[in-house]
Amino acid sequence: MLSSDIEITRVRNEFLEAICEIERESFSEPYPPYILAAMAMETPETFLVAVSNLRVVGYVLASLNKDSGHILSIAVRTNLRRRGIGSRLMAAILEALRKKGAQHVILEVRMSNLDARMFYEKLGFTEAGRVRAYYRDGEDALKMESRIGGY
Ligand SMILES: CC(C)(COP(=O)(O)OP(=O)(O)OC[C@H]1O[C@@H](n2cnc3c(N)ncnc32)[C@H](O)[C@@H]1OP(=O)(O)O)[C@@H](O)C(=O)NCCC(=O)NCCS
Repeated sequence: MLSSDIEITRVRNEFLEAICEIERESFSEPYPPYILAAMAMETPETFLVAVSNLRVVGYVLASLNKDSGHILSIAVRTNLRRRGIGSRLMAAILEALRKKGAQHVILEVRMSNLDARMFYEKLGFTEAGRVRAYYRDGEDALKMESRIGGY
């Protein structure tokens, strides 16, 4: 499958089961389904899904506070990584956040998640500090940020 076979679209209720499955396979502390369902209902314009042949292959979820976007979760099906799907999702969510007035975007990533750190670096995010014991298991988060508007 090529990244060009994939459509990026807003979340819909029928996608939630697959999203929760990808969230569980991707994270040791996944968001519970009720939180993902609430976000899908409340802010569907910043909850985007990558779909291929009617199957969900990845998603990204963000929030917006004044001019600051926040990437809350992004994941791609394990067997479909390194094909550009994550990059397509990030491009789409950054554009959605920019259109809603975001000037910059922040995110937290586990210090040990070197794959994701390299992914964000490739997309132009830079390190912006460390948050002690951000995760329930006590691991620190690396905070990363990127400007997306207001030049
Ligand atoms: C992070 C994630 C969403 C990236 O999605 P993806 O579809 O694999 O990313 P892309 O194919 O668009 O990768 C773009 C670039 O990022 C970098 N990159 C991505 N994954 C990488 C890895 N495992 N190791 C090194 N660099 C990586 C590469 O530069 C890559 O370009 P290349 O393949 O041409 O070398 C995916 O790995 C994932 O779902 N991880 C588990 C969940 C997670 O950790 N999410 C982030 C939480 S903060």
